[in-house]
Amino acid sequence: MNQDQLKQAVGEAAAEYILPHLEDDSIVGVGTGSTANCFIDALAAYKTQFDGAVASSEASAERLKQHGIPVYDLNGVPALDFYIDGADEINHQLEMIKGGGAALTREKIVAAVAKTVICVADETKLVDTMGTFPLPVEVIPMARSHVARELVKLGGDPVYRQGVVTDNGGHILDVHNLRINGSGLNGAQAATELESRINQITGVITNGLFALRSADILLLGTQDGVQTLSRD
Ligand code: A5P
Repeated sequence: MNQDQLKQAVGEAAAEYILPHLEDDSIVGVGTGSTANCFIDALAAYKTQFDGAVASSEASAERLKQHGIPVYDLNGVPALDFYIDGADEINHQLEMIKGGGAALTREKIVAAVAKTVICVADETKLVDTMGTFPLPVEVIPMARSHVARELVKLGGDPVYRQGVVTDNGGHILDVHNLRINGSGLNGAQAATELESRINQITGVITNGLFALRSADILLLGTQDGVQTLSRD
């Protein structure tokens, strides 16, 4: 199977995973990106079995609506059982780097509300040490240079993602040359600590480390089928 087929397999697996838990009034949290798109397409087959969705980007909201799935404002939704989204990298503790599609802030907000976060990813995304994929940091535009200087002090090499404005009006710095893992061993930085430190820089909206709120379940597309990994 190629990467696209693996993404489709995990998208379908995620829809099947949540299906037994869906009720008429259920609202599903939906992420952003090509793997999340596969999930949206698979979920559409069951659209009569739940109420609607909350989306982490305008692009996902549009795709959901095209399938006839109602999209709600998160402010009117007190709780979500599930949030399903992709990742750019995920480690064995189910900590993630996200934001390759610039939707990291809304993704983090929807994940914060969800009881269970399910990551859907093909096997290329599972790593021992994160950071090969540059860490996205969303910033208030006027703070971009200040934040970049502070990120250098944390050991990274930030690069301005030219021409990208997020759904929130923010800019993105992609931070290269970080080495991040769960425990901070072998010269790497601990993910939870780095996530907190970057968020404390004035002008940062949020960063793409999902370690303080990691995934609970990983549905991993492999050549041997979809594997289910649990944080516990
Ligand atoms: C969007 O901002 C990201 O966090 C995506 O979830 C991530 O980039 C994974 O995208 P793909 O599924 O397209 O690889």
